[in-house]
Amino acid sequence: MHSGNVIFTDLHPKTSDTRQEILAGLAQQERYINPKYFYDEQGSRLFEAITELDEYYPSRTEIGILSQNAAAIAAACGVNCVLVEPGSGNCEKVRSLLDAIAPKVFVPMDISSSFLREAAEKLGSDFPWLQVHAVCADFNTHWHDMPELPAGRRIIFYPGSTIGNLEPDAACAFLAHMGEWMGADGGAIIGVDLHKASDRLDAAYNDEQGITAAFNRNILSHVNRLLDAEFDMELFAHRAFYDSDKRRIEMHLVSEQDQAVRCNGSVLKFHEGETIHTEYSYKYSVDDFASLAQRAGLHLSQSWVDEDKLFSVHYLQKGPASPQGL
Ligand code: AVJ
Repeated sequence: MHSGNVIFTDLHPKTSDTRQEILAGLAQQERYINPKYFYDEQGSRLFEAITELDEYYPSRTEIGILSQNAAAIAAACGVNCVLVEPGSGNCEKVRSLLDAIAPKVFVPMDISSSFLREAAEKLGSDFPWLQVHAVCADFNTHWHDMPELPAGRRIIFYPGSTIGNLEPDAACAFLAHMGEWMGADGGAIIGVDLHKASDRLDAAYNDEQGITAAFNRNILSHVNRLLDAEFDMELFAHRAFYDSDKRRIEMHLVSEQDQAVRCNGSVLKFHEGETIHTEYSYKYSVDDFASLAQRAGLHLSQSWVDEDKLFSVHYLQKGPASPQGL
């Protein structure tokens, strides 16, 4: 598909891989569904609604940091870069940076095809000077078969603390991948939610209106379609809490009764209180994140934090930090 300044490439994973992955997770001792399956069309909309909640401070805080520091961030990126955003969602955040960075091309990547198309078209018409090359892909697995992109300094934009979904070892591996992809002269702008008092975090993932609960349960409706399964969303409750030792939010779905769920030709049995784990959302201090980056062969060349120390944005480059004063 091609419309004006917007190109769309579809590398969406095969349905058979998707089924396999979900079935394997559900068969585990601790049942698990990967959080990337939150984002069907409805899930992407629910997430958008989450970002507007009073309790959910990360999105608006990060946009504040990005807008206030757009000039410094753009200076770090240099001119005419190739800007890639894995998991771009509604492409809202990059808007705060586009005029300042003025990239040669912007490459939003997302697993939710129709949502991505819509977001890319809208971005392309709001920024008529911008080349947009949208790629529907699971960015966890598609680093290596990205479509051909123009030459130029490669910058990854990875906001929203999406990196928090990965356990630290996986996050480290992911950062190392980014490092390979961006090459010696590239960089990455990464947004990371900060570790803080549990009550603030518990509230952000247990909003009054129940939007986060609806978002969590919606994963079952997506799985129903992907696997030809019959989960009853009404029979699973939302549970989210901050584990401040492990510095992570855990989200689960709790079976409200003993039940048998038809799923891909067989039957999954749940007893009352049994859970399906759906998400981790790790939080870091700036120092914690600096060590993680270092383990991945990267360093934080600049970091920005809001006044209330809720959220952080970092500019990462390859190699060890340069010694003080050089
Ligand atoms: C999109 C993964 C950053 O972890 O805060 C929001 C997803 N889950 N509320 C997060 C989410 C529940 C969000 N990330």
